[in-house]
Amino acid sequence: MTYRARHLLGIEPLHPVEIATLLDLADTYVDLNRQAVKQSDALKGLTQINMFFEASTRTQASFELAGKRLGADVMNMAMQASSIKKGETLIDTALTLNAMHPDLLVVRHPHSGAVDLLAQKVNCAVLNAGDGRHEHPTQALLDALTIRRAKGRLHRLNIAICGDIAHSRVARSNILLLGKMENRVRLIGPPTLMPSEVRDLGVEVYDDMREGLTGCDVVMMLRLQKERMDGGFIPSEREYYHRYGLDPEKLAFAKDDAIVMHPGPMNRGVEIDGILADDINRSVIQEQVEMGVAVRMAAMDLLARNLAAARQEGAA
Ligand code: NCD
Repeated sequence: MTYRARHLLGIEPLHPVEIATLLDLADTYVDLNRQAVKQSDALKGLTQINMFFEASTRTQASFELAGKRLGADVMNMAMQASSIKKGETLIDTALTLNAMHPDLLVVRHPHSGAVDLLAQKVNCAVLNAGDGRHEHPTQALLDALTIRRAKGRLHRLNIAICGDIAHSRVARSNILLLGKMENRVRLIGPPTLMPSEVRDLGVEVYDDMREGLTGCDVVMMLRLQKERMDGGFIPSEREYYHRYGLDPEKLAFAKDDAIVMHPGPMNRGVEIDGILADDINRSVIQEQVEMGVAVRMAAMDLLARNLAAARQEGAA
């Protein structure tokens, strides 16, 4: 087997072969998910706990469905109502849950690095469902699968990631993954929304959409992460849409067959034109959601196999 990791905390440590292994397995789960009966027993008898310390609709639903389709017992912790409110630390919560013998912990947290820290304290597999501005590995993997299926390959493509790069873990994980697979990544957005380390990322940077989109195969839009801004990053949403919002006129600078992506949730009329987002000839936004379930099934399946192997080794 070519995927040996214990956790899925980020794209950074992954080798291109591991990424390809994950995507290949995810492809088989796409087929399963299109059947009338969507059941496998890859996670039968295992317990999956979802701990979301930040709001989530699609990621949490996607992890829950993925676990259930693989036969796991899935529990969603309502973190708003939990002991965290009473002042318990993240680590105490993790240790308490760990004592209940979960096999897979899926964690989203507003602080970068929190999920890595938690993974050091528990003896099950941990999946990062987004930590602060740091990483969101399953999002990058589902984006990669969507691109690979739409374009027939995942290398030597021109891919533009547009908008609020600075606050986006989706952008960070995608830049890492697409770079590892030897694509040309361009970042397009206002200088105020570019991360300070942008020059070290091996990407091209533009602040003009028309220039940046010229000749692109893939156009990935990002949500303005207002909850991570403390004012002053953009003049107004109207002005932002005018300069950086994706509409048919700006998209015309990309290749004729360029696909349009967005991780959701979308601000229609702020970063993307609503009609374009729904245009099934250009937009693969619904496919991204579909691929999300399959990618999470693949990731949890592989981690569960590694966990079983590690436990067997420990017992031997
Ligand atoms: C992203 C996230 O939470 O990082 N959404 C998602 O997982 N589908 C992007 C976002 O919130 O803008």
